Amino acid sequence: MANPVYVALDTPDIEQAVDLATQVADAVGGLKLGLEFVNANGPEGIRRIAGCGLPIFLDLKFHDIPNTVAGAIRAVIPLAPRILNVHAGGGAAMMTAARDAADAAAKAHGVSKPLVIAVTVLTSLDGDDLAAVGQNGPAAAQARRLALLARDCGLDGVVCSAREAGDIRAACGPDFTLVVPGIRPSWSASDDQKRVAGPAEAMRDGANYLVIGRPITEAPDPADAARRIAAELDEPGAP
Ligand code: C5P
Repeated sequence: MANPVYVALDTPDIEQAVDLATQVADAVGGLKLGLEFVNANGPEGIRRIAGCGLPIFLDLKFHDIPNTVAGAIRAVIPLAPRILNVHAGGGAAMMTAARDAADAAAKAHGVSKPLVIAVTVLTSLDGDDLAAVGQNGPAAAQARRLALLARDCGLDGVVCSAREAGDIRAACGPDFTLVVPGIRPSWSASDDQKRVAGPAEAMRDGANYLVIGRPITEAPDPADAARRIAAELDEPGAP
C-alpha cells in the first residue's frame, strides 16, 4: 500500500518547513500546506516545498463566488498540487466551477488533474455553533448532506473526521476519497484535537489519506515519528 500520510507543515517559517519536509520525506506519502504556510510564503514557498519531490495537498479551503473560486484554482494549478479543497458550504455552483476549472487548467498546463475535495463541517463546530449560524440538525447529518452534494458536483471526496468516515463512505460509495485529520498514534499527545483516532484505526474506518501534523512535526525526532506511523500502518491486521 502506498503511504497514505500527508504531513501538515503548519508553520510560517519556510526554512523550518523545508527542514521538516526533508527529514520526513522517505517516511510519508505527501506534504500538506495550509493557510499559515501559504499566506507567509506564497507560490514561491510552495514551489520550494514541492522541490522535495512529494505530492502536495494545498489546504486552502476556497470559499467565494464561483467565478472567484475558479480563478483561484486556475492560479494554483501550475503548482501541480495533488489535492485541492473548497468549502462545500459555497454551494453546488461553486463546487462545479471548482471541478471544471481544475480539470481545464490541468489540461492547459499539462499537469495531472488534482483531487478536488470538499470541507463539510469544520470539526471545531458543534451542534450549538451550527444552530447559531442558522444550520439545524446534528453536525453529522450536515456533514453527510454536504458530502453527497460534493459528490454530485463531481468532487473527488471530502475532509472528514474518522468518526464520520464510515457514515460518509456508506452514503457516498467506495470511490469517494476520504481525507482524515485528527490522527493521534497512541504514543502522542492529543493537543487541541477533541475527536482523535489512531492511524490504523482511521484507515479501518475508511480513510484513504491521513493528515498528521504535530505528532510528527513536534516529535523530538520527526523522521522517527513518521517511520513509526508508517510501520504501524504496515503491521499485519492493518488495512
Ligand atoms: O497537528 P495536527 O495533526 O492536529 O494537524 C492537523 C491538520 O489538519 C492541521 O493542518 C489542521 O488545520 C487540519 N485539519 C484539522 N481538522 C479539520 C480539517 C483540517 O485538523 N477538520
